[in-house]
Amino acid sequence: MATDPSWPSEPAGRYSLSTLLAPAALMRLGIIALVLLGVASAFAWTAGWLSPGRLDQVRLIDTFEEVNDAHPGFRRNHAKGVCLVGWFGSNGAGARLSGAAVFAAGRIPVVGRLSIVGPSPEVADGSEAVRSMALDFTLPDGEAWRTSMNDLPVFPVKDAQGFYEQLVALKPAPATGKPDPARVAAFLSAHPEAARAIALIKGPREKNYLFDALTARLQQGPAQWHLILVIGQPGDPTSDATLPWSADHETIDAGTLTVAAIESEAAGNCRDIEFDPLVLPSGIEPSDDPMLSARSAAYSVSFTRRAGETKTPSPVQVGRGR
Ligand code: HEM
Repeated sequence: MATDPSWPSEPAGRYSLSTLLAPAALMRLGIIALVLLGVASAFAWTAGWLSPGRLDQVRLIDTFEEVNDAHPGFRRNHAKGVCLVGWFGSNGAGARLSGAAVFAAGRIPVVGRLSIVGPSPEVADGSEAVRSMALDFTLPDGEAWRTSMNDLPVFPVKDAQGFYEQLVALKPAPATGKPDPARVAAFLSAHPEAARAIALIKGPREKNYLFDALTARLQQGPAQWHLILVIGQPGDPTSDATLPWSADHETIDAGTLTVAAIESEAAGNCRDIEFDPLVLPSGIEPSDDPMLSARSAAYSVSFTRRAGETKTPSPVQVGRGR
């Protein structure tokens, strides 16, 4: 075959063994090998292969399932709840703090969920129950703001590890159906911040209505909540949810959430929303609280699992079916 004179010919000996074994070439090959090793190690670390005991979102949700009875199709936590529909009437006062569309004056549709904490949709309403509200604000331009809140002044643990250890410590003992007091005591002595937070939580608790009272209340007309923004001060703790802020902070009433109706969980309503606290609109940024990313990851695993499971009706039936 004729050689194309316009095509550059390879320099003689470029790929010979002696050229590849030359010190400069060996050094280059070594650098390439190091880079590849670094990439492979980073991949293996991220996947958790180098630390099989590491606490990640899958292990957290597996632990929820191990310490509690199975309730396929339901949330792994806050399993008992009802959906709500309504709107947020913003008065525009929050726009002083943030350009987020939710704070511009106007009305924004809201879908949400009222629940009590715990893995069972059958749990009895009790005076000790932690009550929760999750909201999904549908903002213009396809943005969303999702938030899930508990009626606690502080959270009992400050990170995912603490949450995991609390979960294991509160596992009901087979003989009594209640947590083993020795395990609870060991957890509290290993986590003095949790003992302090629980004392704060138990002190100001006030419980006066749960699901039946909520239904009765809404039969009289819409229920309303104010969205109060608390303005932080330098030095306020933002990365440890067991620590309260002092009571002397400036607050802004940014508007009113109106809940017009509640409905039982069903396909297509709040049952199928994952209230991920990191779904934020532009203008609202996450803090350095390590629990936000842990929650986001754990909620995703819980959501993926329950989405694929056969659904049974929620024990809380309100509205038309009642
Ligand atoms: C590392 C700590 C936490 C873990 C592992 C955790 C775990 C979970 C899981 C698995 C769900 C069910 C998610 C779903 O299936 O959609 C859930 C729901 C919820 N969590 Fe957490 N959580 C944590 C911390 C918190 C904190 C600090 C708050 C409040 C400030 C909170 C409030 C809620 C609420 C209100 C819901 C119910 C949301 C709904 O109705 O869909 N959680 N949590």
